[in-house]
Amino acid sequence: MGIFYDEAQRVFHLRGKDVSYVLGVVREGYLAHLYYGKGIREFAGSNGLTFIKRDFSPSVGIGDETFSLDSLPQEYPQYGNTDFRKPAYQVKGADGTTISDLRYDSHRIFAGKVGLDGLPATYVERDGDADTLEITMVDAVLGLRVILQYTVFEAENVITRSARFVNEGQEALQIMKAASASVDFKDSDYDLLTLPGAWGNERQVERAPLRHGMQSVDSVRGGSSHQQNPFVALLGKHATEDAGEVYGFNLVYSGNFEASVEVDQFATTRVIMGLHSFNFDWKLESGAEFQTPEVVMVYSDTGLGGMSRQYHRFYQKHLVRGVYRDQTRPILVNNWEATYFNFTEEKILDIAKVGEKLGMELLVLDDGWFGKRNSDKSSLGDWFVNAEKLPNGLKNLAENVNNLGMKFGLWFEPEMVSVDSDLYREHPEWCIHVPNRAKSESRNQLVLDFSREDVRAEITRRMVAILEEVPVSYVKWDMNRHLTEVGSAHFPSDRQQEIAHRHILGVYSVMDVITTRFPDILFESCSGGGGRFDPGMLYYMPQTWTSDNTDAVSRLKIQYGTSLVYPIVTMGSHVSSAPNHQVGRFTSLEMRGNVAMSGNLGYELDLTTLTDAEQKIVKQQITTYKEIRQLIQFGDFYRLKSPFEGNETAWMFVDEAKTECYVFYFQVLATPARPLQFVKLAGLNVAAQYQLRGTEQIFGGDELMYAGIKVPTALIGDFQTVSWHFQLK
Ligand code: DGJ
Repeated sequence: MGIFYDEAQRVFHLRGKDVSYVLGVVREGYLAHLYYGKGIREFAGSNGLTFIKRDFSPSVGIGDETFSLDSLPQEYPQYGNTDFRKPAYQVKGADGTTISDLRYDSHRIFAGKVGLDGLPATYVERDGDADTLEITMVDAVLGLRVILQYTVFEAENVITRSARFVNEGQEALQIMKAASASVDFKDSDYDLLTLPGAWGNERQVERAPLRHGMQSVDSVRGGSSHQQNPFVALLGKHATEDAGEVYGFNLVYSGNFEASVEVDQFATTRVIMGLHSFNFDWKLESGAEFQTPEVVMVYSDTGLGGMSRQYHRFYQKHLVRGVYRDQTRPILVNNWEATYFNFTEEKILDIAKVGEKLGMELLVLDDGWFGKRNSDKSSLGDWFVNAEKLPNGLKNLAENVNNLGMKFGLWFEPEMVSVDSDLYREHPEWCIHVPNRAKSESRNQLVLDFSREDVRAEITRRMVAILEEVPVSYVKWDMNRHLTEVGSAHFPSDRQQEIAHRHILGVYSVMDVITTRFPDILFESCSGGGGRFDPGMLYYMPQTWTSDNTDAVSRLKIQYGTSLVYPIVTMGSHVSSAPNHQVGRFTSLEMRGNVAMSGNLGYELDLTTLTDAEQKIVKQQITTYKEIRQLIQFGDFYRLKSPFEGNETAWMFVDEAKTECYVFYFQVLATPARPLQFVKLAGLNVAAQYQLRGTEQIFGGDELMYAGIKVPTALIGDFQTVSWHFQLK
């Protein structure tokens, strides 16, 4: 494991647990991609580069028709000199031209991994956990130095990549595109898997065969978005949930991104991922540096399931930080769907009292506690308690909740301002806008310009004042609109195309200050539900509100799709009332409970209206969840039946030692002449015996996995669910 450099061949071999990534310097300093896939002991070039003459593929320089960048697999492809595919970067020189030619200059290999300036990134706790390769490429004409950063993790099938640009010339350069990673595959025998969606319908799984030309996913919304996730995977044609080769790419970033997959004339495939190049133009002054975000690349030869478990394990150990990283998360009750803006101190305490009685551990006061906020039309930015609603103050309310034996949590939306707010009246220039153009509202609000230091400082000051005064144990950090009229009154005209990225860097810096200052607060990020469910957010906040859609049936797909990449413990999932507020569906409390218990459990309904029978069910759910919480939140997750493929969904959780597992099964609609249903378990110890909790029945791990278990035929009606708990005998 580690990074091996063959000086004679000029070849670098990055070797992880069971993955190899190989690149080499060829000809006059071009950096070629040689291999990415299942780990090999030593790379000797059995399937190395082929140089042949191709018509209409110009040769580099003069004299050798077999050498064209147009057909060379490259590590960080450039524009303008024989490669007609899309480049990984593009830089405009002082002369206005955009051609660049990076050549190998030097490299260094070291143990460990360094942080990325101002950006979230994966990390190691011990230098021995990873090795890093930095390859410096130089374009002498531009005076441009690009440092390609690669880290391979000792015990994982993970390689991370990013790039740092340095202007060593005398004149300013314009970075028009700066991807984090580019990988050229030798063929195009893949399907592309993406996670598109919409508000309330995030991360739906889509898989389609690659075709010639460009296929891409992106966001230009100023947030990673509900509409696409910064994730793509290439799947071998026969890859399934349990078998086959899968290459995952996930960008550690929360703003505009693009992931493009290009199949060229020779049926090779290029994957590029990074900051979006649309409306991006970064002025790099002489001597200045620019760091791209990081891409996390996971290789699996055990299908999508293997890829997901790798991402989960890796993000839990190397991305999520803070005291809550390894701690089970509290079962919360949130007042949003219970009261919306219409609450009193008494109502909140009444909800808390029932919650405490049923075993809940944290009361979250959502939107509406500040300024004059009685609807979504006002007060964002005025982070002072709403004295009409809470005449005894927030501190008093929090203490009363604490006195009931529950922790207290609070909602903020720090990046936003309402036009009807004192903050906006004082500082209309503090929002993102373009002078002399109308400002577009969304949810009656504007976006604060976090590229400005003064804006960041004031919002931080207001939040800190609340968090210092009130005993807050949890913060929900929301963000409820995307960016329009992207511009900043603070920056000159030649920096306006930097604002979208500068804004996100500003958001990160405020998150960094607040989360560092309050290390014991559990932070949950949110963006109208799952509009910013990305690794960038998870670096600062260990959990995310998965979707504003709390309907159990919709959640099957949303949580299934989210689990492709993101750990179960990061997924907020709540039981809400029936009929559901987003889609109007009636589902059983058991179904709602089992779906929510498949993530980070919470409740979001008016507990004071529950009948005795419902209270009993909820109490039982909480008791069960507390027993299996460690297993659910930190166990290995196996998807058994996909909601995208049929009427049934099943998934399960297994602890690392394989001593215990918990299985959930869901049937959406009742069907006539229903075939008998079986669920084959996964991830168990084939040689072990497992007892079904609450019974005398004992089965072998092999039998449970190969023969499966019977789904009770008594599951009659729509929205049925059943669960099984097996423990080592
Ligand atoms: C959007 C969030 O996703 C909801 O859970 C809730 O917090 C509202 N915002 C409050 O405005």
